[in-house]
Amino acid sequence: MGDNAKLIIGDKTYEFPVLVGTENEYAIDISKLRSQSEFITLDSGFGNTGACKSAITFLDGDKGILRYRGYPIEQLAEKSTFVEISYLLIFGKLPNQKELDKFSQTFAEFSMIHEDMKNFFNAYPSGAHPMAILSAMICSLSGYYPDLVKSHMTDDLFYRLAAQLLSQVRTIAAFSYKKSIGEPFVYPRHDLKYVPNFLNMMFSSPAKPYEIREEVVRALKVLLVLHADHEQNCSTSTVRMVGSSEANLYASISAGILALWGPLHGGANQAVIEMLEAIQADGADLNKYINKAKDKTSDFRLMGFGHRVYKNFDPRAKIIKQCADDLLNKMGIHDPLLDLAKRLEEAALKDEYFVSRKLYPNVDFYSGIIYRAIGIPLNMFPVMFAIGRMPGWIAHWREMTKDPMTKIGRPRQIYTGELTRDYVSIEQRS
Ligand code: CMC
Repeated sequence: MGDNAKLIIGDKTYEFPVLVGTENEYAIDISKLRSQSEFITLDSGFGNTGACKSAITFLDGDKGILRYRGYPIEQLAEKSTFVEISYLLIFGKLPNQKELDKFSQTFAEFSMIHEDMKNFFNAYPSGAHPMAILSAMICSLSGYYPDLVKSHMTDDLFYRLAAQLLSQVRTIAAFSYKKSIGEPFVYPRHDLKYVPNFLNMMFSSPAKPYEIREEVVRALKVLLVLHADHEQNCSTSTVRMVGSSEANLYASISAGILALWGPLHGGANQAVIEMLEAIQADGADLNKYINKAKDKTSDFRLMGFGHRVYKNFDPRAKIIKQCADDLLNKMGIHDPLLDLAKRLEEAALKDEYFVSRKLYPNVDFYSGIIYRAIGIPLNMFPVMFAIGRMPGWIAHWREMTKDPMTKIGRPRQIYTGELTRDYVSIEQRS
């Protein structure tokens, strides 16, 4: 591979440096293209565009590889905890015991939201989607902790901000659920670890304390670890884009939560279960729905299938499928939707349409089955994704703000509208 790439347009040749990543990924650095010529590049959906250099997550979609800071996702899902991988993603190393204890203590320090913020929950109508509430609450934290959004972000301040967000996202999520079912809030407990603390806030009530089951904690921990980062996906790119204007971390993450909400991204876990329920209610005719997904005149897609980057298999989906089987077995639950999902996967993977387009189950295909077994309601599924993705968003925001190459995100366009024309007064308009 040469040092430069050549672009020949007419009788002009432009040269651009070729960059190589540590895993031998190649890029043509076209950042000087517009200043040297009148051309821009057009890449709808940014499928061929690198927006930054990053040292956080490596992903090889053809080989089904995902690593956080070099560690394979399979090892992290099996052996690590969510707090540990949050530290790893954000600070670049696995914490030693002292570092982990200090990080967890800072979580405990921040686990309760400001008392006044509890009033916010009452202002939402009962049917409000918890993603809307979560995004608004995260942004509102900036009003309650102004010291944490000072324009000069020291390492110490950032450390506290990161711990606060990771801790409070869990409290806000549980409170919004309690509000939606009309039960009193359950406060965080310092004697419980991250996942049991969340489960207790969600499911404990004055009438019935929640029994924390090891298999449930393990399944949820695995899901959070698997969702923690996925390099330049739609929501993380949004966090980076918003942050590139020097908006504070709360504002940037609030925007990321909204990007995640869409059914093509983190809202897909909810959409998968809705789809499976609809197929079930309609007689479980798989062929009918596979044909519908293939039909270009229909807007139906097989939710939980396909990925922009994975073209072989999604390593997270493999782990989650196994995790769903294990959890349901241990809990003695038979969920007909899991059987249906498996049959749907089998049928799709034999179908030429899905095979030729390399469409495989993604992280969202089986995760909803686990959330259902745990008792998490459908509209909270994307919120669970948001809790999991929090360390990734924080890590990317920090990497972006510390990178001297960062510029405000400002893509170009090719204008396809009207040419110049004169203003016409209202009386003369047709
Ligand atoms: N069902 C039916 N056809 C599909 C699907 C699907 N789920 N996904 C892609 N296709 C087809 C698509 O119609 C297109 O066909 P053709 O080449 O004939 O026009 C081809 O496959 C390529 O699809 P694309 O839309 O160009 O691919 P993309 O990379 O732009 O989109 C995706 C990726 C994930 C948005 C898409 O696969 C999709 O909509 N999947 C369903 C929603 C979903 O499960 N989202 C969760 C993604 S993983 C979690 C996350 O990180 O967000």
